[in-house]
Amino acid sequence: MEKKIAIAKGDGIGPEVINEGLKILKIISQYSDYELKFVETPLGGEVYKQTGTNLPKSSFEQMKSSDAILFGAIGLPDLPQGIAESAILKMRQGLDLYINLRPVKLYKPLFEICPLKPEFYENGIDISIIRENTEGLYSRIGGIVNNNTAVNSMIYTRKAVERIIKYAYKYASRKGHSEIISVDKANMLACSEFWREIFLEEGKHYPNLSKKNFYVDAFCQWLIRAPSSIQTVVTENMFGDIISDEAAFLTGSLGMAASANINPDGVSLFEPIHGSAPDIAGRNIANPIGTILSCKLMFEEAFNDSKMGEVIEESVVTALKTHRTLDIFPRNPQKHEKLLKVTCSEMGTIIGNELKSRLKK
Ligand SMILES: NC(=O)c1ccc[n+]([C@@H]2O[C@H](COP(=O)([O-])OP(=O)(O)OC[C@H]3O[C@@H](n4cnc5c(N)ncnc54)[C@H](O)[C@@H]3O)[C@@H](O)[C@H]2O)c1
Repeated sequence: MEKKIAIAKGDGIGPEVINEGLKILKIISQYSDYELKFVETPLGGEVYKQTGTNLPKSSFEQMKSSDAILFGAIGLPDLPQGIAESAILKMRQGLDLYINLRPVKLYKPLFEICPLKPEFYENGIDISIIRENTEGLYSRIGGIVNNNTAVNSMIYTRKAVERIIKYAYKYASRKGHSEIISVDKANMLACSEFWREIFLEEGKHYPNLSKKNFYVDAFCQWLIRAPSSIQTVVTENMFGDIISDEAAFLTGSLGMAASANINPDGVSLFEPIHGSAPDIAGRNIANPIGTILSCKLMFEEAFNDSKMGEVIEESVVTALKTHRTLDIFPRNPQKHEKLLKVTCSEMGTIIGNELKSRLKK
């Protein structure tokens, strides 16, 4: 199977973690039926400095004609906020990436570094957050008037709400989940009232799925109180942005979390959820697992190959039993004499070796 993958490394730790993702993809290309072709699509702050644009037309055209995009992160501390980062919105809107899927999974070897007490997650954590990615407050409708008043409008169209909620129900059924939660603020916002009506209406087609509605404030505490009980969650753009970062921290580090920006009828983009992390860039200490798990999502969601996704995940979990980057290294290492602290590139190589041994069988 031939697949063309656009590689958008970006700024800061972006290139470091994407190089490890590429290691994994090249192993898959070498040891399976996939024939993966890669095309570099530069974007971000460094590119802006050289060309005056954060997303050159040539990069965007290559992305549009690819089967999937692997993206690192963008943003530079010496550029005003947003100059590099607006390329993300251009890709989301230009490719109509209306689904943002963020799995939140606490792997067994990392139970100990979860910031919650064990009784709160004894059954593990395996949550899928599905966030609307194109409308709401992030439609950027508004502005500052005479330096005196600032306004942003929250906009939701029926088309946008229906398509994300339909996707969420289908996703929950495909995963065999028994419950789906919708997060809104229907006691305060008209957009949320509209959202809730559509959620309940569409739910009539899924009698076997139990449905729950949470206000966003209540859900933020539920996420800490009962994370093991949560399965599929669907929510609007800004609420999803906030709760998915809160949820990601339950897995031990921002560096562990993967995401997919999906257009089921077009090309989809896969990226770790963290940013360009200028505080650790250039030191080869970033955790590449968020990127490697984004490659897992690419196989599952873009290439409809959950088997390959499983093999990548198994390789990650096995590697975590013996090797860790700094951000996920236990605080009391004397209890873990056999655990080795490794660099970003070493972690990628170790996971790659696990993957190779599984694909060779
Ligand atoms: N998708 C994106 O490209 C994206 C997302 C978020 C932030 N940003 C941009 O990134 C820049 C930095 O933002 P920030 O500092 O708020 O968020 P960040 O995610 O870059 O970093 C937050 C903290 O997490 C740590 N961290 C992040 N990724 C890690 C990894 N893989 N391994 C180990 N530690 C990791 C960092 O060292 C830092 O202490 C800004 O310019 C911001 O706008 C970009």
